[in-house]
Amino acid sequence: MLRVSNKNKLALKPVSLSALGILLAGAVIYYLSSPANEAEANFALKHKDAPVVALGEQVYAQNCASCHGVALEGQANWQKRDAGGYLPAPPHDETGHTWHHPDSYLFLMTKYGIEEMIGKSYPNNMPAYEDKLTDEEILAVLSYIKSTWSGRIQRQHDQINARAKAQ
Ligand code: HEC
Repeated sequence: MLRVSNKNKLALKPVSLSALGILLAGAVIYYLSSPANEAEANFALKHKDAPVVALGEQVYAQNCASCHGVALEGQANWQKRDAGGYLPAPPHDETGHTWHHPDSYLFLMTKYGIEEMIGKSYPNNMPAYEDKLTDEEILAVLSYIKSTWSGRIQRQHDQINARAKAQ
């Protein structure tokens, strides 16, 4: 959706090409910066980029390992809700289902949290990292996670990404 401010509408009255150009440029900038369109941006994980993976390993140790496990093994009985109805943290290794999700989902979920992704209330213990990590750090930590998967699972994940992009 394009939002056209009153100011831009007035600017259009003496229809000049430059005013139209400015309006279009504004609309494009708005479109690209709108969170709703982030899903279309490029979130490709860089699991073969050594410096990115090294940064991601640090980010993981400092922010994720406490719940998802130092060796990405997740919490015990992660498929069973606890007494309070919450799911424990799942593993990020191949035994979990992190690799079932495309890059864009993993990125947006880590940044904005699960409720924001699914668009409804869902009490859970996964924090949103919007105010704690930069986009670069989020991409790095997810790239690190992917770098630990076997070649076979990495290729399956590449296919999941290709299917998600084609939708
Ligand atoms: C306070 C504990 C905690 C911390 C810290 C934490 N998580 Fe989570 N995470 C969870 C829980 C619990 C879930 C499952 C929530 C649910 O489904 O109810 C989860 C789920 C996820 C999922 C979804 C996995 C899937 O298969 O659907 C991703 C991706 C994820 N976390 C990434 C991260 C990353 C990256 C970090 C560090 C930057 C992190 N988490 C830090 C608790 C945590």
